[in-house]
Amino acid sequence: MNATFDYTGRNIFVAGGTSGINLGIAKAFAAAGGRIGVGSRSQAKVDAAVAELSGAEPALGYVFDVRDHTAVATALAAFTEAAGPIDVLVSGAAGNFPALAKDISPNGFKAVIDIDLLGTFHVMKAAYPLLRRPGGSVINISAPQAQVAMSHQVHVCAAKAGVDMLTRCLAIEWGPEGLRVNGVIPGPIAGTEGMARLAPTPEARDRTAASVPLRRMGNPDDVAAACLFLGSDAARYVSGAILPADGGWILNGAPMSLDAV
Ligand code: NAP
Ligand code: COA
Repeated sequence: MNATFDYTGRNIFVAGGTSGINLGIAKAFAAAGGRIGVGSRSQAKVDAAVAELSGAEPALGYVFDVRDHTAVATALAAFTEAAGPIDVLVSGAAGNFPALAKDISPNGFKAVIDIDLLGTFHVMKAAYPLLRRPGGSVINISAPQAQVAMSHQVHVCAAKAGVDMLTRCLAIEWGPEGLRVNGVIPGPIAGTEGMARLAPTPEARDRTAASVPLRRMGNPDDVAAACLFLGSDAARYVSGAILPADGGWILNGAPMSLDAV
């Protein structure tokens, strides 16, 4: 990405930043000069991401499951011990599978709620004492499902709607301390695990691209650009916003053909 923002000397932590959109976000902050920390469940993915993200500034990686608050808090404390207070926290770990409610077990519903919603709370709560004050910025990665009801996505819709409310509620609670809390809603992003699960065929991806007002799927850089803005001084009076980086897809109802999945 052609970075027009300068994050030199800033610390950015991306929870779930080891693949797909979140890795793209981490790469954009790294290209803009930031010191990056990432974490997720797989040691192999963490190692690969750290190698990819390390340049002039070495990146730091941590293995944790966002469902385990203690593990998240330990990782974030280790990052700030090494790097200093967190300037930008991105919370993007998520799980998804397409299924009708009648086919989702209580544990399947719980898995997605625990990763997306409880996990985001864990990341925000663990980071709260470690954010730079004033000036710290939190960016939660949401999804169109937070705003658009969809068949086969009841678990994700419920979880991501909750994530948006975490964003809004904590923008109110944390604002007086000089902290901003915002969300980003990616549209359909090509080449990602999420799209592989929701639009697994070329036909489904073509239909999806055609349903976006800008008439193309997005890429991780499209989402990262919104995050670079929200984390920067250019967004200094923006808090509690949920910014779609979706080519206008939500305006068309973010249609997915999940009956065929
Ligand atoms: P992805 O590549 O599967 O990324 C998910 C990331 O979260 C991975 O780094 C994964 O690493 C980590 N993760 C998953 N479960 C975790 C857990 N329990 N604890 C810690 N880390 C965990 O998916 P993606 O499609 O790029 O999606 C990224 C984000 O964008 C998600 O928040 C998703 O809801 C959102 N989004 C995606 C799209 C899209 O088009 N793809 C559209 C709208 C919104 P490990 O496997 O190592 O844990
Ligand atoms: N349909 C219905 N239920 C499903 C399912 C599907 N396609 N996939 C998983 N489940 C259910 C499982 O059967 C299990 O329920 P059960 O114990 O009653 O049988 C429950 O979900 C948990 O599955 P498990 O594999 O043990 O969970 P996990 O914690 O290892 O993985 C997932 C979580 C299921 C969300 C997994 O897909 C994942 O790790 N996803 C991360 C990557 C991702 O989804 N990326 C896209 C982000 S948009």
